[in-house]
Amino acid sequence: MKVSIIGSGYVGLVTGACLADMQNNVTCLDIDEDKVKSLSLAQVPIFEPGLAELVKKNIDLGYLEFTSSYNNILDTDLFFICVDTPNDSTNKPNLTNLDAVCKTLSQLPIHDATIVLKSTVPLGTNNRITNFFLASGLAVDVVSNPEFLREGSAINDFMRPERIIIGSSSTKSVQKLQTLYRPFSRKSNKIISMSPASAELSKYAANSFLATKISFMNEIAEVAEKTGANMHEVRQGVGSDSRIGDQFLYAGLGYGGSCFPKDINALIHFQSDQGIKSNILQATHEQNSSMEYFFTKKLLNYFPDPSKTKLLFWGLSFKPNTDDIRESIAIKIITALAPEFLSIGVYDPKSLQNAKEEMELIPNLLYLDNKYEQIDEYDALVICTEWKEFWNPDFSRLASLKSKAVFDGRNILSRDEVEENDLLYFGIGT
Ligand code: UDX
Repeated sequence: MKVSIIGSGYVGLVTGACLADMQNNVTCLDIDEDKVKSLSLAQVPIFEPGLAELVKKNIDLGYLEFTSSYNNILDTDLFFICVDTPNDSTNKPNLTNLDAVCKTLSQLPIHDATIVLKSTVPLGTNNRITNFFLASGLAVDVVSNPEFLREGSAINDFMRPERIIIGSSSTKSVQKLQTLYRPFSRKSNKIISMSPASAELSKYAANSFLATKISFMNEIAEVAEKTGANMHEVRQGVGSDSRIGDQFLYAGLGYGGSCFPKDINALIHFQSDQGIKSNILQATHEQNSSMEYFFTKKLLNYFPDPSKTKLLFWGLSFKPNTDDIRESIAIKIITALAPEFLSIGVYDPKSLQNAKEEMELIPNLLYLDNKYEQIDEYDALVICTEWKEFWNPDFSRLASLKSKAVFDGRNILSRDEVEENDLLYFGIGT
């Protein structure tokens, strides 16, 4: 099929490359002409495992191309809108980009096309955009097809989806998407058709529930610290119940990223707009926000004179296997602690450059190319992101830490092993 992807960011690029890999003819459009030029040369501006290779393969095979002109996507069967919908300062999703795309599309000769909303959009958006096209005299279907891609495993999540939600009242458009997604739904039917309103709410509800699982375990971790319980054991004790499941039960610094915080806040905003009291979601948000203070308090209380203390931070991205620092709790903690401490060394396998740009105004940060660089200069190690390369550190190097203390914000090290190496261990409920 002929597919156009409007918005060649994280979601658009993964969607376009994976659809091209199933021999669809895909054109990715972006208004940033420099980005289009780089992408046409298979230079992908984000780190997502396997993405650059998939883009290059499908450019070479002729299934994938890039453009900045809408004139090059007129003969399209399916228009995927994948532009970003960030929250504004009042936590209301900013739909400027989405509305601009719809305005442009409404002036094109694309009657009978299917427009697919891939971006996470506020509840009621499909209805609003459908009415917009009707008012503009363009006979198109608007389908809600939310993405469930995790950064760091996005290609796998697209290629092997657990479900493909199609929110539409048009049989014709549902059939188009069923044809498009058939190669991704071979072993068993993963396609769930529903109303657009249900599709929009399913996306928010799924992300909010995952975030709530995390905040729930973080609240339990605070209880564990008062009882001597160990969250590694509690997680197994809870997660072994098939009704609960064993995923997303890892206590730690909490959730960051461009999705969970944004989606929870958007849903709370919607509830407030509709006069619905937000009990659980507000609590999820507040618990998550409190983890940053829970952890910085440990650090500030431990050192008698932070102004003479140097900290070494491992991990800046919001999660491993990505260079994305959006809503990174590591960045929030470093920003809060830098004024209190003498200096902070920071290391991350992939997001150092992004972090440097984000924290350029903080004077006492040192950006390290190697996680053990001048380690004997530092008083303590602080781990904020669970990158695999941090899971099995060289304890003979950590022994050089002046205060011999390890603050493990993601509970990835074993307390016993750290203490066997004559170091002090501080986890979160472990
Ligand atoms: C999430 C959803 O998983 C995905 O389905 C949706 O499409 C986009 O948002 P993502 O934000 O990429 O994906 O990362 P995810 O792996 O879900 O982790 C989100 C955050 O939760 C990370 O900061 C991670 O460190 C944290 N997390 C995750 C925990 O703190 N504990 C856990 O047990 C799991």
